[in-house]
Amino acid sequence: MNPEEYADRFLENDELLARVQQNIADRGMPAISIAPGYGRLLTMLVAATKAEQVLEIGALGGYSGICLARGLSPEGRLTSLELKQDYADLALAHLTEAGFGHQVEFKVGLAAESLEQLKQEGRTFDFFFIDADKENYPVYLEYAIELANPGAIIAGDNTFLRGRTLNPDKNGPSVQAMRRFNELMATDERLIGTILPAYDGLAVAMVKPRQP
Ligand SMILES: C[S@@+](CC[C@H](N)C(=O)[O-])C[C@H]1O[C@@H](n2cnc3c(N)ncnc32)[C@H](O)[C@@H]1O
Repeated sequence: MNPEEYADRFLENDELLARVQQNIADRGMPAISIAPGYGRLLTMLVAATKAEQVLEIGALGGYSGICLARGLSPEGRLTSLELKQDYADLALAHLTEAGFGHQVEFKVGLAAESLEQLKQEGRTFDFFFIDADKENYPVYLEYAIELANPGAIIAGDNTFLRGRTLNPDKNGPSVQAMRRFNELMATDERLIGTILPAYDGLAVAMVKPRQP
């Protein structure tokens, strides 16, 4: 048993999330929801930071959306960006089943376009979860920093790309983008960040309050 399997055993009896995974599989959608231990971490971070406005980039079937929404207060809101209408529909159905349907809005289309729209509208957020197309992670990070309230948390999933990020022989566009993203999360002067190396890697950073 590896450390992740050991840790996941304590999180196994979540019937709702198990049903979400099953519905995703039944529809032939990819099994790429966030790992259980990191899903629990998202819930904890949203609750601990008292985040009221949460932005998710990449919804799939709503697994991580439920994890994020579980950390919200009743007044909190989740905005979720998803490319595919049918994925957003399933995610909304699952969030509704979980009791959060009235707290979530979906924006369907290219995330970069939705982010530009949110910026033009002057929207700001307390928490960001980046989990869509890997080539655009650095773009999404820059938008997140621009849309961030001071002290906001940014998390990005799959930062190891199943080992490709660490393999010097792999240099495709997604790998290069992820290396840049990881470097920025850990070294950008606007952030305090690190990489958690379990599962497929999760980078987490706090946006520093802006200097006057
Ligand atoms: C890894 S899955 C998200 C998993 C989800 N966060 C979870 O843990 O339950 C990535 C999602 O990003 C979406 N996606 C891919 N490219 C996108 C883009 N350019 N804009 C918005 N969403 C995109 C995919 O359709 C897919 O649903």
